[in-house]
Amino acid sequence: MPIITNIEDLRVLHQKRTPKMFYDYADSGSWTETTYRANEADFQKIKFRQRVAVNMENRTTQTTMIGETVAMPVALAPTGLTGMQFADGEILAARAAEKFGVPFCLSTMSICSIEEVAKHTTKPFWFQLYVMKDRDFIERLIERARAASCSALVLTLDLQILGQRHKDLKNGLSAPPKLTIANIINMMTKPRWCLGMAKTPRRNFGNIVGHASGVGNMASLSSWTAEQFDPGLSWDDVEWIKNRWGGKLIIKGILDVEDARLAANSGADALIVSNHGGRQLDHAVSSIHALPAIVDAVGSDIEVWVDGGIRSGQDVLKAWALGARGTMIGRAFLYGLGAMGEAGVTKCLEIIHRELDLSMAFTGHRDIHKVTKAILYPGTY
Ligand code: GLV
Repeated sequence: MPIITNIEDLRVLHQKRTPKMFYDYADSGSWTETTYRANEADFQKIKFRQRVAVNMENRTTQTTMIGETVAMPVALAPTGLTGMQFADGEILAARAAEKFGVPFCLSTMSICSIEEVAKHTTKPFWFQLYVMKDRDFIERLIERARAASCSALVLTLDLQILGQRHKDLKNGLSAPPKLTIANIINMMTKPRWCLGMAKTPRRNFGNIVGHASGVGNMASLSSWTAEQFDPGLSWDDVEWIKNRWGGKLIIKGILDVEDARLAANSGADALIVSNHGGRQLDHAVSSIHALPAIVDAVGSDIEVWVDGGIRSGQDVLKAWALGARGTMIGRAFLYGLGAMGEAGVTKCLEIIHRELDLSMAFTGHRDIHKVTKAILYPGTY
């Protein structure tokens, strides 16, 4: 068993153990992947100020996100097809998050359904909503999230249409995978994955199949999204959803100050600065680059979080220092999941927590609430 010390170790194992089409689905951006790369690269440019001879005893990274206590300002982002990275992936990730004390957010495009995740967990999780043309289906999804005691709805606004990811088209991405010769040969090199998939009944889009009427060809994700997602989505729909839901609402996919103001005016509880992991508008700015101006504009009106490119606790600390009161990790936890199932997600959270905690101490702090922009080296952010 390899010794895992960082998120990159988990990524390497994930790539080795998971069929190519699913690893590629997680680990790609749209078109040239410029924004996807910038998300990570822009974190690297930001430097810390090192402080010494400061008492480092009794440290805490505990805080709250939309009023929920979290062990650190990190939540598991909603990611599609998670149950294809590892059998029952959403259930396993939700359990790891629950045990660690951070929120888990289930994607509309998950393999395990809302009900199945609720059945296998004990604490409320969040549900991410994509708005589809079929409003009856959306109403039912909202009701299902309520019935499962989800404590927040995360409304994604940056995926009405799908950015092109070349690898998904070339790999013929589908859930479950089609049994082509190429896929069979690739799957034969992933015995753990095959065994897990053989044992679970959950191999389809659990929130959708059997719940939405007129669902055409789910096998081709890109054509299915093009058919079903509502390209007419507007702020009026946000209001409709907010009223329909009535609970905590988080708006995901804000990258522009003007949109941030609209999100704050919508009465949502939090907004997530995000470019969808560099999977939508290629050549958009990185999330961490967009964060400071959005915090300046609306940070006193609404909780501002950020996702995209977070691969370490140091990245979480930088985001916090720049005013994010929460972060979301997608790929980082998927690497853990694909590598080792629930234990891998736990490992990912442990790695990030340890990096955050130690780096915070090196910058001279014991309580994350005391950390401000002052920990960052002038001219590097
Ligand atoms: C869906 O959320 C995707 O980015 O594929």
